[in-house]
Amino acid sequence: MDSITLATPDDWHLHLRDGAAMADIVDHSARQFGRAVVMPNLKPPVTTTAAALEYRGRILAALPEGARFEPLMALYLTDATPAEEIRRAAEAPEIIGFKLYPAGATTHSEAGVTGIEKIHWALEALERHGVPLLVHGEVTDPDVDIFDREARFIESVLEPLVRRFPALRIVLEHVTTKEGVEFVQSCGPRVGATITAHHLLYNRNALLTGGIRPHHYCLPVLKRESHRQALVAAATSGDAHFFLGTDSAPHARPQKESACGCAGCYTALTAMELYALAFERAGALHMLERFASHNGADFYGIPRNGGTLTLHRTTWQVPETLAFGPERLVPAMAGESLTWRASRRSG
Ligand code: DOR
Ligand code: ZN
Repeated sequence: MDSITLATPDDWHLHLRDGAAMADIVDHSARQFGRAVVMPNLKPPVTTTAAALEYRGRILAALPEGARFEPLMALYLTDATPAEEIRRAAEAPEIIGFKLYPAGATTHSEAGVTGIEKIHWALEALERHGVPLLVHGEVTDPDVDIFDREARFIESVLEPLVRRFPALRIVLEHVTTKEGVEFVQSCGPRVGATITAHHLLYNRNALLTGGIRPHHYCLPVLKRESHRQALVAAATSGDAHFFLGTDSAPHARPQKESACGCAGCYTALTAMELYALAFERAGALHMLERFASHNGADFYGIPRNGGTLTLHRTTWQVPETLAFGPERLVPAMAGESLTWRASRRSG
């Protein structure tokens, strides 16, 4: 097979940042994806519909002439999100859901939720208005081993939440463990999960092989090989619970290559090439379209994209760095060779 053509895919979990840095990267996503769920963890966080609509306007304004790309905005849930804000978000077609960051779990999560019991009324409102909850699924208890934080979150927070709110639609974002995969599989169709390309391609050895590899550091952190295999099996199975979310999260090079480096892998430049690599290694390229172009739209109950994206089999080298506002950014697999290359999507 020298090329694969898919219905235009979507990225159901993306960090675009803001300002000049965003303007330098947004077209990497727009070249490959029809739509993307844009994460609200800016500083300050995007907590209101009004702020999200302004941010959306800046994203659209930063696109190159003629590029078509639909940002689907997520709002940042806090202990103090007013009921009125949930109603406003439910009425705005540009808003796709609310993101739950446990306070302290990841980049710019300081304003996040400090205890799930504090937002029970907000979860009721989301359920009542039919607004999905997008979850960063890790406990933040410093006594819990960082590699166990997702599994612990599932048993102590997510499972009770799914039971208590039987109609709430929930996405376990960037699932990284066998426990996470099995939990989502055990739920009905109102619970889904996104899977990143880096968690399909790498296990935790990638963090420490031959030295500390800060560009492989993300949250949730890479897990052991058996978990990676569970993710690959889930993504390539065609199961409608699982769909593509890159969690592409750019940080300027000095913030990554530091004594206390930031979490995030920048995969947007080569997103579909990386997923194609993971699916090809699993002998499952024929399942890529469901995962990348069908399952997410079906979960959210919005039409699948028209148009197509074609990947060609050719060897090319990923650039060492990219422009990122006043700084540079190191993309995933910088300087390495890839065997698939996506052309700009059509339609
Ligand atoms: O690695 C990550 N980076 N995980 C997150 O949850 C946030 C993201 C970011 O915004 O940098
Ligand atoms: Zn993220």
